[in-house]
Amino acid sequence: MGANEAFDVRADDDSEPGDASKSGQAVRRRIVVVAATPDGVIGSGGDLPWRLRRDLQRFKRTTMGGVLVMGRKTFDSIGRPLPGRQTVVITAQSDWSAAGVVVAPGPSEALRQADQLIAPGDSKDASGLEDDQRRCPVFVVGGATIYQALLPECDELWLTTVLSRISGDVHLSMDRSRWRAVETVRYPAGAADQMPTEFHRLVRR
Ligand SMILES: NC(=O)c1ccc[n+]([C@@H]2O[C@H](COP(=O)([O-])OP(=O)(O)OC[C@H]3O[C@@H](n4cnc5c(N)ncnc54)[C@H](OP(=O)(O)O)[C@@H]3O)[C@@H](O)[C@H]2O)c1
Repeated sequence: MGANEAFDVRADDDSEPGDASKSGQAVRRRIVVVAATPDGVIGSGGDLPWRLRRDLQRFKRTTMGGVLVMGRKTFDSIGRPLPGRQTVVITAQSDWSAAGVVVAPGPSEALRQADQLIAPGDSKDASGLEDDQRRCPVFVVGGATIYQALLPECDELWLTTVLSRISGDVHLSMDRSRWRAVETVRYPAGAADQMPTEFHRLVRR
């Protein structure tokens, strides 16, 4: 099976965009960032099932300055807010808190809050720029419950396909036919990466 044939068809990818974009207010670009095997494995035992240093470095470089939206379990697995970015954590626990993060009671509230935050990389110089050009993107960074809820709200998908049959207990299913690849780069396994990978930048069709 090729990496691009890995994912199931899901009806919920048909959802309409969320309230913020419908209202016409300026919103941040919304980008899903995920690493998955061809079978859709994304996690194991509350952590990532692989060590991919190059992918982590790309994640750091490309999300720097922006806003990260994540589920509470993913936040727990990281253990702290990542520097240089705003973090919005989604939880149903009304008494949950952590230093340096914004808490949201659900996925759509998280996007609303992310749109209103000032991100570290937002341009202070507004001259000649549209709102959406001076605002860093929102990166939806997992886990599975948050991807499933927010994929329909996102315009771009940065997918690292981990070319391995490694098993795990958290899976992502998505409809790849709704996305068009605009960039694909292959990386062999090596000192930096435990397994070979393919990085795909995809835009919504
Ligand atoms: N490969 C990758 O790119 C990648 C990326 C991120 C994470 N992961 C992996 O994925 C796994 C974690 O994913 P997961 O799906 O188990 O957990 P998750 O999505 O990170 O977090 C789930 C939690 O988010 C909150 N939540 C989710 N939907 C909600 C809603 N509609 N309303 C309110 N709160 C909601 C709940 O928190 P409360 O229980 O506090 O209410 C829920 O328990 C880990 O193994 C992690 O390492 C992999």
